[in-house]
Amino acid sequence: MNNLVIAIDGPAGAGKSTISKKISKKLGINYIDTGAMYRAITYKCLKEKIDILDEKKVIEICEKSEVDFIDNKIYLDGKSINDEIRMQIVSANVSNVAKIARVREIMVKKQREIGQKNDVILDGRDVGTCIFPNTKYKFYLNASPEERGKRRYLELKEKGENVVLEDIIKEIKKRDYIDSTRKVAPLTKAEDAIEVDSTNMSVDEVVNYIVKKVRES
Ligand code: DC
Repeated sequence: MNNLVIAIDGPAGAGKSTISKKISKKLGINYIDTGAMYRAITYKCLKEKIDILDEKKVIEICEKSEVDFIDNKIYLDGKSINDEIRMQIVSANVSNVAKIARVREIMVKKQREIGQKNDVILDGRDVGTCIFPNTKYKFYLNASPEERGKRRYLELKEKGENVVLEDIIKEIKKRDYIDSTRKVAPLTKAEDAIEVDSTNMSVDEVVNYIVKKVRES
Protein backbone atom coordinates (compact mmCIF):
# COMPACT_ATOMS: atom_id res chain seq x y z
CA MET A 1 0.00 0.00 0.00
CA ASN A 2 1.74 3.17 -1.20
CA ASN A 3 -1.04 5.68 -0.97
CA LEU A 4 -1.64 7.96 2.00
CA VAL A 5 -4.23 6.61 4.44
CA ILE A 6 -5.20 8.72 7.46
CA ALA A 7 -7.33 6.94 10.06
CA ILE A 8 -9.57 9.00 12.33
CA ASP A 9 -11.38 6.93 14.94
CA GLY A 10 -13.35 7.83 18.03
CA PRO A 11 -16.79 7.82 19.66
CA ALA A 12 -19.99 9.40 18.31
CA GLY A 13 -19.99 13.18 18.16
CA ALA A 14 -16.26 13.66 18.69
CA GLY A 15 -16.14 15.79 15.54
CA LYS A 16 -14.56 13.18 13.30
CA SER A 17 -16.48 13.98 10.13
CA THR A 18 -16.14 17.78 10.40
CA ILE A 19 -12.41 17.44 11.04
CA SER A 20 -11.89 14.79 8.34
CA LYS A 21 -13.71 16.81 5.68
CA LYS A 22 -11.54 19.83 6.40
CA ILE A 23 -8.34 17.80 6.33
CA SER A 24 -9.35 16.16 3.04
CA LYS A 25 -9.81 19.60 1.48
CA LYS A 26 -6.57 20.92 2.94
CA LEU A 27 -4.53 17.98 1.70
CA GLY A 28 -6.50 17.44 -1.53
CA ILE A 29 -7.35 13.82 -0.72
CA ASN A 30 -10.56 11.79 -0.68
CA TYR A 31 -12.80 11.49 2.36
CA ILE A 32 -14.64 8.33 3.33
CA ASP A 33 -17.18 8.47 6.14
CA THR A 34 -17.31 4.77 7.09
CA GLY A 35 -20.17 5.34 9.55
CA ALA A 36 -22.29 6.66 6.68
CA MET A 37 -22.18 3.17 5.16
CA TYR A 38 -23.70 1.58 8.29
CA ARG A 39 -26.20 4.41 8.39
CA ALA A 40 -27.16 3.76 4.75
CA ILE A 41 -28.03 0.13 5.53
CA THR A 42 -29.91 1.19 8.68
CA TYR A 43 -31.87 3.76 6.69
CA LYS A 44 -32.82 1.19 4.07
CA CYS A 45 -33.96 -1.31 6.74
CA LEU A 46 -36.10 1.33 8.44
CA LYS A 47 -37.58 2.41 5.11
CA GLU A 48 -38.43 -1.17 4.23
CA LYS A 49 -39.82 -1.72 7.73
CA ILE A 50 -37.30 -4.45 8.52
CA ASP A 51 -36.86 -5.25 12.22
CA ILE A 52 -33.34 -3.97 13.00
CA LEU A 53 -32.89 -6.74 15.57
CA ASP A 54 -33.63 -9.42 12.96
CA GLU A 55 -30.00 -10.02 11.91
CA LYS A 56 -30.85 -12.39 9.08
CA LYS A 57 -33.11 -9.85 7.40
CA VAL A 58 -30.63 -6.99 7.92
CA ILE A 59 -27.86 -9.10 6.36
CA GLU A 60 -30.12 -9.89 3.39
CA ILE A 61 -30.70 -6.17 2.84
CA CYS A 62 -26.99 -5.45 3.19
CA GLU A 63 -26.01 -8.16 0.69
CA LYS A 64 -28.28 -6.81 -1.99
CA SER A 65 -27.49 -3.11 -1.49
CA GLU A 66 -25.06 -0.97 -3.43
CA VAL A 67 -23.32 1.52 -1.15
CA ASP A 68 -20.90 3.92 -2.80
CA PHE A 69 -19.10 7.23 -2.54
CA ILE A 70 -19.18 9.70 -5.41
CA ASP A 71 -17.35 13.01 -4.84
CA ASN A 72 -17.05 12.07 -1.17
CA LYS A 73 -20.84 11.75 -0.85
CA ILE A 74 -22.74 8.60 0.07
CA TYR A 75 -25.06 6.86 -2.42
CA LEU A 76 -27.41 3.97 -1.77
CA ASP A 77 -28.50 1.99 -4.83
CA GLY A 78 -27.57 4.95 -7.01
CA LYS A 79 -29.43 7.53 -4.94
CA SER A 80 -27.86 10.30 -2.84
CA ILE A 81 -28.95 9.89 0.80
CA ASN A 82 -26.73 12.34 2.66
CA ASP A 83 -29.48 14.05 4.64
CA GLU A 84 -31.63 10.98 5.24
CA ILE A 85 -28.87 9.09 7.04
CA ARG A 86 -28.42 11.91 9.60
CA MET A 87 -31.99 11.61 10.90
CA GLN A 88 -32.24 10.90 14.62
CA ILE A 89 -34.16 7.66 13.98
CA VAL A 90 -31.17 6.37 11.99
CA SER A 91 -28.70 7.42 14.74
CA ALA A 92 -30.79 5.66 17.34
CA ASN A 93 -30.73 2.34 15.44
CA VAL A 94 -27.39 2.23 13.65
CA SER A 95 -25.29 0.64 16.42
CA ASN A 96 -27.43 -2.49 16.26
CA VAL A 97 -26.73 -2.80 12.54
CA ALA A 98 -23.01 -2.02 12.89
CA LYS A 99 -22.54 -4.82 15.41
CA ILE A 100 -23.54 -7.56 12.96
CA ALA A 101 -20.38 -9.46 11.88
CA ARG A 102 -21.48 -10.17 8.30
CA VAL A 103 -22.53 -6.55 7.76
CA ARG A 104 -19.10 -5.42 8.93
CA GLU A 105 -17.37 -7.94 6.69
CA ILE A 106 -19.17 -6.53 3.62
CA MET A 107 -18.50 -2.92 4.60
CA VAL A 108 -14.84 -3.41 5.52
CA LYS A 109 -14.19 -5.12 2.16
CA LYS A 110 -15.67 -2.12 0.37
CA GLN A 111 -13.78 0.36 2.58
CA ARG A 112 -10.48 -1.34 1.81
CA GLU A 113 -11.21 -1.33 -1.92
CA ILE A 114 -11.91 2.40 -1.87
CA GLY A 115 -9.00 3.18 0.43
CA GLN A 116 -6.42 1.30 -1.61
CA LYS A 117 -7.02 3.30 -4.77
CA ASN A 118 -6.33 6.89 -3.74
CA ASP A 119 -4.89 9.05 -0.99
CA VAL A 120 -7.65 9.10 1.57
CA ILE A 121 -8.79 10.07 5.04
CA LEU A 122 -11.34 7.71 6.63
CA ASP A 123 -13.27 8.26 9.81
CA GLY A 124 -15.00 5.62 11.88
CA ARG A 125 -14.51 3.32 14.83
CA ASP A 126 -12.16 0.64 13.47
CA VAL A 127 -10.14 2.35 10.74
CA GLY A 128 -6.81 2.13 12.60
CA THR A 129 -7.51 -1.14 14.39
CA CYS A 130 -9.14 -3.20 11.63
CA ILE A 131 -9.62 -1.62 8.18
CA PHE A 132 -6.09 -0.24 7.76
CA PRO A 133 -4.06 -1.44 10.77
CA ASN A 134 -0.77 -0.87 8.90
CA THR A 135 -1.19 2.81 8.19
CA LYS A 136 1.27 5.13 9.94
CA TYR A 137 -1.31 7.87 10.40
CA LYS A 138 -3.73 7.01 13.15
CA PHE A 139 -5.65 9.41 15.35
CA TYR A 140 -8.19 8.80 18.09
CA LEU A 141 -10.47 11.79 18.50
CA ASN A 142 -12.30 12.09 21.79
CA ALA A 143 -14.37 14.56 23.85
CA SER A 144 -16.55 14.28 26.94
CA PRO A 145 -20.03 12.74 26.37
CA GLU A 146 -21.64 16.02 27.50
CA GLU A 147 -19.66 18.06 24.96
CA ARG A 148 -20.35 15.51 22.20
CA GLY A 149 -24.05 15.51 23.07
CA LYS A 150 -24.14 19.29 22.97
CA ARG A 151 -22.54 19.36 19.51
CA ARG A 152 -25.00 16.79 18.11
CA TYR A 153 -27.92 18.61 19.72
CA LEU A 154 -26.97 21.93 18.09
CA GLU A 155 -26.45 20.21 14.72
CA LEU A 156 -29.90 18.58 14.84
CA LYS A 157 -31.61 21.75 16.11
CA GLU A 158 -30.13 23.66 13.20
CA LYS A 159 -31.68 21.11 10.85
CA GLY A 160 -35.05 21.70 12.46
CA GLU A 161 -35.28 18.40 14.39
CA ASN A 162 -37.20 18.57 17.64
CA VAL A 163 -34.70 17.13 20.14
CA VAL A 164 -33.93 17.29 23.86
CA LEU A 165 -30.29 17.69 24.97
CA GLU A 166 -30.52 15.13 27.79
CA ASP A 167 -31.94 12.53 25.38
CA ILE A 168 -29.08 13.09 22.94
CA ILE A 169 -26.45 12.70 25.70
CA LYS A 170 -28.17 9.52 26.87
CA GLU A 171 -28.25 8.15 23.33
CA ILE A 172 -24.58 9.01 22.78
CA LYS A 173 -23.63 7.14 25.97
CA LYS A 174 -25.74 4.18 24.90
CA ARG A 175 -24.07 4.16 21.48
CA ASP A 176 -20.62 4.37 23.10
CA TYR A 177 -21.53 1.34 25.15
CA ILE A 178 -22.81 -0.78 22.23
CA ASP A 179 -19.92 0.30 19.96
CA SER A 180 -17.21 -0.43 22.50
CA THR A 181 -18.56 -3.71 23.90
CA ARG A 182 -19.59 -5.45 20.67
CA LYS A 183 -17.78 -8.66 19.74
CA VAL A 184 -16.51 -7.63 16.28
CA ALA A 185 -14.06 -4.73 15.90
CA PRO A 186 -15.21 -2.81 18.99
CA LEU A 187 -14.48 0.89 19.31
CA THR A 188 -11.05 1.14 20.89
CA LYS A 189 -7.95 3.27 20.47
CA ALA A 190 -5.26 1.55 18.41
CA GLU A 191 -2.10 1.23 20.50
CA ASP A 192 -0.14 3.37 18.05
CA ALA A 193 -2.84 6.02 17.52
CA ILE A 194 -2.32 9.58 18.71
CA GLU A 195 -5.17 10.57 21.04
CA VAL A 196 -6.65 14.05 20.59
CA ASP A 197 -9.14 15.32 23.20
CA SER A 198 -11.18 17.98 21.41
CA THR A 199 -13.37 18.99 24.39
CA ASN A 200 -11.67 22.37 24.66
CA MET A 201 -10.25 22.68 21.15
CA SER A 202 -11.70 24.48 18.13
CA VAL A 203 -12.21 22.63 14.86
CA ASP A 204 -9.30 24.46 13.25
CA GLU A 205 -7.00 23.71 16.17
CA VAL A 206 -7.68 19.98 15.77
CA VAL A 207 -7.31 20.13 11.97
CA ASN A 208 -3.99 21.96 12.19
CA TYR A 209 -2.67 19.63 14.87
CA ILE A 210 -3.43 16.51 12.81
CA VAL A 211 -2.10 17.98 9.54
CA LYS A 212 1.11 18.98 11.32
CA LYS A 213 1.54 15.47 12.74
CA VAL A 214 0.96 13.90 9.30
CA ARG A 215 3.47 16.24 7.64
CA GLU A 216 6.05 15.60 10.38
CA SER A 217 6.05 11.84 10.08
O1 DC B 1 -19.81 7.96 13.06
P1 DC B 1 -21.29 7.69 13.00
O2 DC B 1 -22.06 8.23 14.15
O3 DC B 1 -21.89 8.09 11.70
O4 DC B 1 -21.39 6.08 13.07
C1 DC B 1 -22.61 5.43 12.99
C2 DC B 1 -22.54 4.08 13.69
O5 DC B 1 -21.78 3.16 12.93
C3 DC B 1 -21.97 4.08 15.10
O6 DC B 1 -22.90 3.54 15.99
C4 DC B 1 -20.77 3.20 15.05
C5 DC B 1 -20.83 2.51 13.73
N1 DC B 1 -19.55 2.50 13.03
C6 DC B 1 -18.79 1.39 13.12
O7 DC B 1 -19.15 0.46 13.83
N2 DC B 1 -17.63 1.30 12.43
C7 DC B 1 -17.22 2.31 11.68
N3 DC B 1 -16.06 2.22 11.00
C8 DC B 1 -17.99 3.49 11.59
C9 DC B 1 -19.17 3.56 12.30
